[in-house]
Amino acid sequence: MRRALEEGRKGLGLTAPNPAVGCVIVNSRGHVIGKGYHAKAGGDHAEIAALKTVTDSADLKGSTVYVTLEPCAAEGKTPSCAHTLAALPIQRVVFGCQDPNPAMAGGQKVLVDAGIQCDQWGPLKRECLELAEVFICNQSAKRSFVHVKVGASLDGQIALKSGESQWITSESSREQVQVLRGQSDAVLVGRGTFEQDNPRLNSRSDQFINKTNIAVIIDPKGGVISQLSESRLLEVRPSEKVFVIVHEGFLGESENCKILRCPEVQGQLDLKVAMQALLAEGVHSVLVEGGGTTISQFFNQGLVDRLTVFMAPKIIGAAGGQSWTKGLSIDGLENAICLPEMKMTQLGSNFCLSSGMFTDTWLKGD
Ligand SMILES: NC(=O)c1ccc[n+]([C@@H]2O[C@H](COP(=O)([O-])OP(=O)(O)OC[C@H]3O[C@@H](n4cnc5c(N)ncnc54)[C@H](OP(=O)(O)O)[C@@H]3O)[C@@H](O)[C@H]2O)c1
Ligand SMILES: [Zn+2]
Repeated sequence: MRRALEEGRKGLGLTAPNPAVGCVIVNSRGHVIGKGYHAKAGGDHAEIAALKTVTDSADLKGSTVYVTLEPCAAEGKTPSCAHTLAALPIQRVVFGCQDPNPAMAGGQKVLVDAGIQCDQWGPLKRECLELAEVFICNQSAKRSFVHVKVGASLDGQIALKSGESQWITSESSREQVQVLRGQSDAVLVGRGTFEQDNPRLNSRSDQFINKTNIAVIIDPKGGVISQLSESRLLEVRPSEKVFVIVHEGFLGESENCKILRCPEVQGQLDLKVAMQALLAEGVHSVLVEGGGTTISQFFNQGLVDRLTVFMAPKIIGAAGGQSWTKGLSIDGLENAICLPEMKMTQLGSNFCLSSGMFTDTWLKGD
């Protein structure tokens, strides 16, 4: 199942509106004879991609198929995987998590009815759900998935008060950010970051060379709209891929972007409504890059589905810095935001910490 997860991750950011899924086929002697992943919507599902890599079909007799998501039961753009597998001399299908889409679920029954042993395997269920977290969020919460990314010093600062922020983290951390950008449909920043940094917000990672992402700016008064024509956002994408989220009372129009109007909640733009509007525009996932005011707003409104912090071994000091939680305050430690298990990877001198809040909440309601 770990190998199936590795396969599935190759499709991250490329499969929307479908989930990323991976599959490995092992013959009766325990050798891997096929592997594959879902690479794009409308393309082969992971099981079919894996079957196509099996060179000797006689090897399928008595084999076991490991797939991160329950094989689909219904025909969509492609034939049902459960029915395809049911017609083969396979002995067993093991899946990591169930398909939350009721229209697609039921693959296990199809296989069992065909005399194939089919079961869910628990130990990597969480990882398998996380592989499909964008899809599950879109299906169940009916909004865009929110991934907050932070590049900070050891003491949690993302810039100086002067606005200087380039560069706190290392080159290898920044390369990894390029991958995260590619894995999301859109990258979002607040007005402050747009004005201070004039960022491009695209992915310069080779894996995503054919994907032009969407840039989103939150700017209630819409003042940034007149600055767009001079901005670097438009150097790397057409104007229909630049979205500005404004207050619902904003009256202007522009040829340089798509304007999304949003109501208020407690004096701030209602980000849940904004994330619903983004999904309606085909944005399945958003990487929120800052600054601290914007990130704090997403936390205040309970809308962070995944948090990834790149941490550099530097101390900047809170007195002269800007914290990524500068707009957050809790009264009483019992109200601290507690994150589920964080995965840590080392990138040279930097650390990357990531925590999937959406899957945690989903599992609690399971
Ligand atoms: N190291 C890093 O990873 C990193 C990443 C990004 C940014 N930065 C740094 O962070 C600094 C900018 O941070 P910042 O906190 O000043 O600005 P910011 O978060 O980029 O933008 C804040 C502005 O966005 C608007 N906004 C965001 N959420 C909103 C909501 N829910 N409702 C209404 N308005 C909303 C507001 O605009 P109005 O003021 O118009 O109401 C708010 O003042 C820059 O120096 C930048 O270099 C560092
Ligand atoms: Zn399928």
